[in-house]
Amino acid sequence: MFFEYIFWISLAEVVLVAVAVIVNVVRQKSFKNLNEPPVVFHWLPTFGSTVVYGKDPFKFFFDCQAKYGDVFTFILLGRRVTVYLGSKGNQFILNGKLKDVNAEEIYSVLTTPVFGKDVVYDVPNAKFMEQKKFVKSGLAASALRSYVPLMENEILDFIEREPYFAGSDGKINIPPIMAQITLFTTARTLQGREVREKLDTTYAKLYHDLDDGFQPINFMLPWFPLPQNRRRDIAQKKMTKLYADIIQARRSSGEKKDSQDMLWNFMESSYKDGTPMPDTEIAHMMIALLMAGQHSVSVASSWTMLHLAAQPDIMEELYQEQLHVLGDGSNPLTYEGVQKLTLCSYAIRETLRMHPSIHSIMRKVKNPLPIQGTNWVIPPSHVLLAAPAAMGKSDQYFPNAEKWDPHRWKDIADPKDQEKEKMDYGYGLVSTGADSTYLPFGAGRHRCIGENFANIQLAVVISVMVRHFKLTNIDATEGVVNTDYSVCLVVNSVL
Ligand code: HEM
Repeated sequence: MFFEYIFWISLAEVVLVAVAVIVNVVRQKSFKNLNEPPVVFHWLPTFGSTVVYGKDPFKFFFDCQAKYGDVFTFILLGRRVTVYLGSKGNQFILNGKLKDVNAEEIYSVLTTPVFGKDVVYDVPNAKFMEQKKFVKSGLAASALRSYVPLMENEILDFIEREPYFAGSDGKINIPPIMAQITLFTTARTLQGREVREKLDTTYAKLYHDLDDGFQPINFMLPWFPLPQNRRRDIAQKKMTKLYADIIQARRSSGEKKDSQDMLWNFMESSYKDGTPMPDTEIAHMMIALLMAGQHSVSVASSWTMLHLAAQPDIMEELYQEQLHVLGDGSNPLTYEGVQKLTLCSYAIRETLRMHPSIHSIMRKVKNPLPIQGTNWVIPPSHVLLAAPAAMGKSDQYFPNAEKWDPHRWKDIADPKDQEKEKMDYGYGLVSTGADSTYLPFGAGRHRCIGENFANIQLAVVISVMVRHFKLTNIDATEGVVNTDYSVCLVVNSVL
């Protein structure tokens, strides 16, 4: 009797799914809305193309582009997402008017519980633009200049104390090492001395608990009581207190500003109306900057190391470049010196081209948006998706795009020189990116604010590694492993 019952239930479920699939297919084949971009064919309603997009977004974009053109809509966990590829798409989405396209409605559900209230996507855009302006002034050349020796020393100390670096040869697992090096160098520079002192104890654990808060499921079901969300919330409060205590200690000791870390910078920042940045906002911005930079930089440095291990001749060239440009390979690195390492900058560029941190940049549509040259209007129920990184993966713009070849940049104009059209969104002039085929740091209003810091950090990490090690791939394969997008979907889509 029991098994019969189970049988009928299962049969009913199968029939229901079959009916849903049939209705979904018939609807797609019979009712095409010619006033909206084509919808990518999918068997399952609600799930739509979620799995195929999540598995390999770039392959998905290119396959859809071949079938439907630059503009198409796909179903992502029940949402209608309209992708607009190419320069026109970047211009349309990244430089869309504030009243038409909105980032915070997409990202805030994920970022606010991690960063905290009243910063970034939890405030009106005008306020966030002021916060970006504070960050920009904190990352001026003078601050970056002071960071270079601190970063170099941190990496040297790390090499000295970690046992797997002992001896003349050995095996290392690059990604976790680069993650640690990124955390130590950021902590010592941007985050400040006190944070670095706490890194070996409380801070690292809090960081990991916060980082676990970036779960794909939180996009759909942010209220779901996952154990890691509870840990995230506890860590968020403790981390806020940790920064607030440091600020209080600096104030009460009457300590004079002795470094150019971001904490001092925020402590001296005031909004346009004269209100000084409150301590909780400072704490939350510090968390935001930590989380925004950590993954992107550690992933980029890991990929660069893995490519260098696969192509040791380029590693040797990078070393020779240091000898040639900086004289002795053992002189301390300087801001000015690092800037002169052209091949090193090409290596960074090439890594960010091939392994962009963010494959999908999303905005919520707020008003019906007509697409020029078509009859299509994108309705406010849709999400817009720009994928500037797709151009970097296309042979059309970068011949033999699958090959990691830093030398290709010799023949390509400096991306900074390509950035002709500029706008001020409230934090200084930034490129609209309208014509560029290379936008690893985005464009427009939401363009990355940590670009200069990231470039210096990457250059220092790579330079130190090149000076001290020769790497080879253990399995001697030329191509490093493929990107596993399923594990980085959310981190990549957010910051
Ligand atoms: C290789 C390293 C990095 C890459 C490739 C990268 C890339 C990007 C991209 C593409 C965006 C635009 C997102 C969008 O339009 O929705 C972005 C935004 C942002 N980045 Fe970065 N980033 C990097 C490092 C950093 C670092 C080190 C920091 C902090 C020090 C940082 C802070 C931010 C912030 C705060 C935003 C949000 C800006 C906004 O929404 O207005 N990033 N990043």
